Amino acid sequence: MATKDVVTKVWIDPGCIVCDACETTAPDVFDVTDDTCLIRPDALNPDFTKPRTQDIIDAALECPVDVIKYDTAAVEVSDEEAAAATAPAEAKKVDAPDKKAPHAPAAKTPAEPAKAAATKSPEPVAAKSVEKDGTLDPAIAALLRAATARGGNAGIERQARDVPAAIAEMSRKDPKDLPPDARQALIVEAARKSKQDPSASRRQFISSAALATGWIALGTGTGVAAGPAFMRFMMPNVLEEPDPRVRVGKIQRYLEMNPGDVNEDFKPQGIWMVREEDRIAALNIICTHLGCIPNWLPNDRKFKCPCHGSGFKPDGINFEGPAPRPLERFRIFVEDGIVVVDKSRKFQHELGQWEQPASYIGV
Ligand code: FES
Repeated sequence: MATKDVVTKVWIDPGCIVCDACETTAPDVFDVTDDTCLIRPDALNPDFTKPRTQDIIDAALECPVDVIKYDTAAVEVSDEEAAAATAPAEAKKVDAPDKKAPHAPAAKTPAEPAKAAATKSPEPVAAKSVEKDGTLDPAIAALLRAATARGGNAGIERQARDVPAAIAEMSRKDPKDLPPDARQALIVEAARKSKQDPSASRRQFISSAALATGWIALGTGTGVAAGPAFMRFMMPNVLEEPDPRVRVGKIQRYLEMNPGDVNEDFKPQGIWMVREEDRIAALNIICTHLGCIPNWLPNDRKFKCPCHGSGFKPDGINFEGPAPRPLERFRIFVEDGIVVVDKSRKFQHELGQWEQPASYIGV
């Protein structure tokens, strides 16, 4: 008997940029909120994910930051089903009916105008850079779909009507009110370099190239479908990289805490400061199950995740619920008497990394 792989579990690693791409591809599995992406409760059941295997794999492939993870298991199937499952992925995509997010019900698929925007530009230097053998990168295609889906197809069609006027309006504006040429040049250059340098990160390439495509498409009048929603959606990925180092105050305030105490002052920055008998540490507030934000319950002396009930002790160790591992810790050090947390480097307890000196301040 032949077998095929089916998805038995899907989850989101930290780092979601809430682009909506996965929800557009598999709306009954992914729920993109303002801050993160959640797995819908039904999709925590293997019986629910198995028949949606292809959608989940497509969503993972399209994810621009590769945070969608899944487990698979082999199940026995008929020879015909096995042959269908091993057909080339691209062929499947061409044959598959268009998927629509529930909030984008109009007849035209979101991908159509977005793709047109990427391929119709005259001399599309950046657009060419996002194509591989004439095929738009699946991650970029998903971003374009998501960007357009945010406004809905009605919005897309309205933009299609209004863009000639919008372009005329742009041509009347003072140059200082337009996107700086330097910015556009930078973006195009980044897209070109990303293509030449295979070691460049996928996210850097996608955000730069897709943004360049969007600007060029708009400038030539062929970005009608993507429109302003596309630009609003794309810009932050390139222009706003928050500083990963957070200064969390004088060392003295943490020395004065009692062992087991938790300081929530920097939760908006994604950090819980915790005091242990012999050290001060900075916990990452992201739940290690599916990426929700737990709450600190001072009376119960624990962090409790509202999504699926995982519980963590004040030091971050998981002890109840589905979370598979402790909360992560950030690099932490003292600089001129000020405690600095470096969120670009994380330490995992299950890998023995909490014993590395950079993961704590000894007291
Ligand atoms: Fe599931 Fe936290 S995300 S328990």
